[in-house]
Amino acid sequence: MSASTRLWDKGEPLDARVARFTVGRDPELDGQLIAYDALASAAHATMLRKIGVLGAEELSGLLRELAACAAEARRGEFGVAADEEDGHTALENRLTARLGDAGRRVHTGRSRNDQVIAALRLWARERLVELTGRLLDLVQQLLSLAEAQRETTMPGYTHTRQAMPSTLGHFFAAHAEGLLDALPWIRTAFAHVDRSPLGSASGYGVALPLDRVLVAELLGFARPQANTLAVQNDRGRTEYLLLAVAALIATDLGRLATDLIGFSSDELGYVRLAAAVTTGSSIMPQKRNPDVLELIRAQAARLRQRQAEVAAIYGGLASGYHRDLQLTKEPLLEGLSGVIDLVAVMGRVLETLQVDAERCRAALLPATAATDEVYRRVAAGQPFRLAYREVAADPAGAVGSEGAELWRARCHLGAPGALDLHDYRAALHEGRQWVATKGQHLAAVWALLTSALAPDGDAGGEP
Ligand code: ARG
Repeated sequence: MSASTRLWDKGEPLDARVARFTVGRDPELDGQLIAYDALASAAHATMLRKIGVLGAEELSGLLRELAACAAEARRGEFGVAADEEDGHTALENRLTARLGDAGRRVHTGRSRNDQVIAALRLWARERLVELTGRLLDLVQQLLSLAEAQRETTMPGYTHTRQAMPSTLGHFFAAHAEGLLDALPWIRTAFAHVDRSPLGSASGYGVALPLDRVLVAELLGFARPQANTLAVQNDRGRTEYLLLAVAALIATDLGRLATDLIGFSSDELGYVRLAAAVTTGSSIMPQKRNPDVLELIRAQAARLRQRQAEVAAIYGGLASGYHRDLQLTKEPLLEGLSGVIDLVAVMGRVLETLQVDAERCRAALLPATAATDEVYRRVAAGQPFRLAYREVAADPAGAVGSEGAELWRARCHLGAPGALDLHDYRAALHEGRQWVATKGQHLAAVWALLTSALAPDGDAGGEP
C-alpha cells in the first residue's frame, strides 16, 4: 500500500494484512455510493464557498470534477483502488490530482463519518422511491388477478387443511392489501433518511460557521438532523429500520411464494407457472420446477437475517463512530437492492400466471359446508354450540349447498362475498402520486452536478 493514497497516512507503515482486513469490501461496495458522495460533496463545497473557505474558481472546478466522477461512477468506470481504503479517499485523491488545492480543501468541515452517512441516505432515498414504484406495480397485478378471479370458487385453508369455501380473488386481494400495508412504513423510513447528516463531522461539529441548512436544502433533504452526535448514533440504526421495511415486504413475498408453490403443485393445480419462469431438472425430463418462488422465499429469509446482522453489530456500541459500523454497509446495500429485485421477479411470475378455475372449484370438499350448516341452524334459533355439536356428529351429512352459494352468503366487510377493490385502487393511485412527486424532487437535486457540465460552463454559479 503506497504511503500517499490514505488520507490519514503519516508515513508509518501499515501491516498489509491488517490493511486488507480493515478495508474489507469497501472499495467494491463504495462503487455504488460514489455518485451520491460526489453529489453530497458538491453541496458541501457550495456551502464552503458561501462561508469563504473556497474561492469561486475553486468551487466551479470542484463541481465540474465531481460531476465527471459521478458520471463515471454511473457508467461503472470509477474504480476505487484497494490501497485507497474507501470511496471517500478515492474521490478526494481524484479531486486533488485534478485540481490541486481545491481538492485539498474540500474535506474542510467534514469527516468521512458524516460523508458516508450522507451518501448512504441519498442512495437510500432513491431506492425507497424505486421500491415503492415496483411494489405498486405488483399490487396492481394482484388487483387485476383479484378482479378476474372474484368468482372463482376455491377452498379457504387453515393449517393447510380445507376450512371454508372462498375465492381465488379473495386470496389475491389479501396479498394486495398486505403489500399496501407496507407503504406507510416505507414513508416513515423515507422521512427518517430525509435529514442531512452533513456538518456532524466526526460527531461533534467543527469550529467553522457551517451552514447546515443550506447543505440540506441543496441536497433536497427536508432538514438537517440536528444533534451532531445523534447523527453518528443513527448509523446502524437507520440501516436496521430500512432493513425492517425490506424484510417486512420480502416476508410477505416469501409467503405468497409458498402459497403459489402449493397452488401450482401437481396435486392441486389451481394455478400454472409459465414455462418462462420455471426451471428444469438435469435428470428428470418431465420436470418444471418453481425454483424462482423457492429462491424468493429463501432470499426473504436472508433479508430477515440481514436485519438481525445489523442489530447485532450496532446494538452494543457506545455513542459515536466505531469502525464496526462499516460492516452495516453490506447488509444495507445488498438488502435494499435485494428486496427491489424480489418485487420485480415476483411481478414476472404473476404476469404469466395461468389459473385453472375448474380445478379450484373441483377441489372444494363438501365438508367445508359444515360451518354454514351450523349457521343455518343458528338462524333458525338454535344456540350455536348445540348446532355445532349436531353438525359435528355428521359433517358430511350437512352438505347441500354449492360452494359458490356459501361464499356469496359471506357478504360482510372484507369477506369473499363482498370483495371491494375500490379502496385498494385509491391507495394505489395515492401511492403513484407519492412516487411521482418524490421522484421529481430527487431527480431535480442532481442539477447541482449536471449544471456543472452544461456547455455554457456555468459551473454551479454563485452559492
Ligand atoms: N469506510 C468507513 C465506514 O464505512 C468510512 C468512515 C471511516 N471513518 C473512520 N473514522 N475510520 O465506516
